[in-house]
Amino acid sequence: MTQNLADTSRPAADIAHEANVSASRGWWRDAVIYQVYPRSFADSNGDGMGDLPGIRSRLPYLRDLGVDAVWLSPFYASPQADAGYDVADYRAVDPMFGTLLDADALIRDAHELGLRIIVDLVPNHSSDQHEWFQRALREGPESPLRERYHFRAGKGENGELPPNDWESIFGGPAWTRTENPDGTPGDWYLHLFAPEQPDFNWDSPAVADEFRSILRFWLDMGVDGFRIDVAHGLVKAPGLPDIGGADQLKLLGNDVMPFFDQDGVHEIYRSWRGILDEYPGQRIGVAEAWTPTVQRTANYVRPDELHQAFNFQYLGTDWDATALREVIDLSLDSMRPVDAPTTWVLSNHDVTRHATRFANEPGLGTQIRTPGDRSLGLRRARAATLLMLALPGSAYVYQGEELGLPDVTDLPDEVRQDPSFFRQAGQDGYRDGCRVPIPWSDTEAPYGFGPAAGGPSWLPQPAEWAALSVEAQTGDPTSTLELYRSALAVRRSQPDLGAGTDVEWLEAPEGTLAFRRGSFVCTVNTTGEPVRIAAPGRLLLGSTELVVDGGETVLAPDSTGWWAV
Ligand code: NOJ
Repeated sequence: MTQNLADTSRPAADIAHEANVSASRGWWRDAVIYQVYPRSFADSNGDGMGDLPGIRSRLPYLRDLGVDAVWLSPFYASPQADAGYDVADYRAVDPMFGTLLDADALIRDAHELGLRIIVDLVPNHSSDQHEWFQRALREGPESPLRERYHFRAGKGENGELPPNDWESIFGGPAWTRTENPDGTPGDWYLHLFAPEQPDFNWDSPAVADEFRSILRFWLDMGVDGFRIDVAHGLVKAPGLPDIGGADQLKLLGNDVMPFFDQDGVHEIYRSWRGILDEYPGQRIGVAEAWTPTVQRTANYVRPDELHQAFNFQYLGTDWDATALREVIDLSLDSMRPVDAPTTWVLSNHDVTRHATRFANEPGLGTQIRTPGDRSLGLRRARAATLLMLALPGSAYVYQGEELGLPDVTDLPDEVRQDPSFFRQAGQDGYRDGCRVPIPWSDTEAPYGFGPAAGGPSWLPQPAEWAALSVEAQTGDPTSTLELYRSALAVRRSQPDLGAGTDVEWLEAPEGTLAFRRGSFVCTVNTTGEPVRIAAPGRLLLGSTELVVDGGETVLAPDSTGWWAV
């Protein structure tokens, strides 16, 4: 695969000026934020599991890649029933990832390199090993700590049926029955995810106080913001009413459910915004909020609430010009009234990587189990990335997508760890495929992920990944890594990219898109056929080779071009 590369050298004074302009608007408005999944990024001690010192050692790579901030998925003390999204102690680093001192050093190093750090906050549920939950179980039904979770008596003659009909997102009922201290069957507790993840009761003042204190703990450590897990789930409808039907997961994202997107959540974010604003340096909150519409997502980023929300509608859009244009317009239109930047995201640790989604037929959703046509998927993924990075707002990059990594669709069942894989009908059972440790160097696994050739990695890496390592791709102008580096350098050098809230659509043949942003034009061809158009200007960068000849250009199949006009 070839690509056109841009000359991105610019005077330092210009760069400094733009950095100041960007800071005065809010650094996060057009930031490119790189998601690190700590288990799978870099393993410093050879135990097969990534860790904080490993991440720290790779920060210069991220600085050179050209991102603005790093979001770290959870590294807190956790039994890892859901890969760290089950937190036992919100103020401690799990020994598998290091220590608080390592976290401190990581934050300091990142800041010295000009990178901001966003940590994951998991306020919807704790681990069942959290001290509060353990005490609530131990102390029995009269424990005052039970009020901090949702404990209820069961239905049926002997309380043998769950208190309501809610289903867990990971499959099966959302309730698990407890045993009383005397060994008799007891009350049930609510867990929207795994049984090891009991939901907090956000009506409890102790829960609200505790999270305000946790926010301050990490803000005092110097973090620049929080990605808020299940931000739409904290408040449940009063009385926990039945939904009245099975197969509820199909309703998710289409209807307002009694456990998601309740209006009461916004009060919590207003209180958190007050805390974030007390700290210097524009600390931010980012909502992971799956809502039925982008308009409802916008509620989370009203001026007195959070700063950003993930744009999952965009993530779920197929590689199709009409659908993309619609979702781009809808996203921008919904965020404009609340004056929040739109975000753009193609991959994360919960969905099939976009190189594999686009390799398969459209309409299969975000959990795909077949590799599809890999070279087509990569070609489209590269084009999709240049489109995403040309849009106004903030963009998220998931570790390894800059290497063009596909999902690993053939992991043997015995190595899988995703909790929903082990529960029937869970919606996300195949998430391990996007969590395989990333290749850095060498010809033998773990490809520089760990310190020793032949050493372990918590999920096995495919043999083909030797050719996809950072080392193998560095300096190869046709590589996906160099495409990302060039794209991010151009984005830094062209203030029109990322800034603002509008795109000006230009006329474009069917199956293609063209839009203008200031002195910049982006062209996209989502079809499998070449399309000839008048060249919009001087080619800055292409996801593949784009030929300009006599004022015309041929948009190669499944390609994106960036043009200076
Ligand atoms: C969303 C996280 O991204 C996912 O990985 C996790 O399983 C659920 N929330 C539950 O915390």
